[in-house]
Amino acid sequence: MEETRYITFALAKGRLAKKSMDILKQIGIDCEQMRDPDTRKLIFVNEELKLKFFLAKASDVPTYVEYGCADIGVVGKDTILEEGRKLYEVLDFGIGKCTMCVAGPASARQLLEHGQMIRVASKYPHIAKDYFYNKKNQTVEIIKLNGSVELAPIVGLSEVIVDIVETGTTLRENGLEVLEEICPLSARMVVNQVSMKMEQERITKIINDLKNAGLAR
Ligand code: PRP
Repeated sequence: MEETRYITFALAKGRLAKKSMDILKQIGIDCEQMRDPDTRKLIFVNEELKLKFFLAKASDVPTYVEYGCADIGVVGKDTILEEGRKLYEVLDFGIGKCTMCVAGPASARQLLEHGQMIRVASKYPHIAKDYFYNKKNQTVEIIKLNGSVELAPIVGLSEVIVDIVETGTTLRENGLEVLEEICPLSARMVVNQVSMKMEQERITKIINDLKNAGLAR
């Protein structure tokens, strides 16, 4: 008989990793060794279930899935939108809920209302560009940053930012506020387009198990 092929999962490192593993574990998709906080290993294999797992930087997860190195990925909607890879987004895990927002000092509100040429700092230049150019028809200058984006309007790099807001604490503590909401975010399961056809039975079972257990929709 033909050897069963491995189904490979790419999980986003960081805040979502543990929660994603907890959800998968509840339907018997286990990655116990991956939880070892001291491990430097990158790939984990469950021989019995013919499953492989790896933890990747969130922004690389869609890349691994598009190229078929992983059949399935679990990653934030922010990253999916920003990376714009060819994949199927099949499930919402409902974890890591937050909102992509335009934020800044209250005084920036009028600049937005009057459609002025402003500078927008963001870790998400594609999302920012799509929002201002395609949804608002406003020409802006996008400045790409890699973190602590809230600094930008404070030190005068930009008038506003496009960033994730979860509790709003970071904005509040820095005298900034949400000016416009762009879209809701949460962790999603994505599937490689070829895997979806080649491994339809096994992948559909995973999707249905997660849905039936009320773990995703
Ligand atoms: C994210 C985001 C905001 C903050 C929002 O940053 O970029 O800064 O969390 O959370 P809050 O609304 O609950 O305060 P992250 O911690 O990922 O760090 P970084 O942007 O500096 O990389």
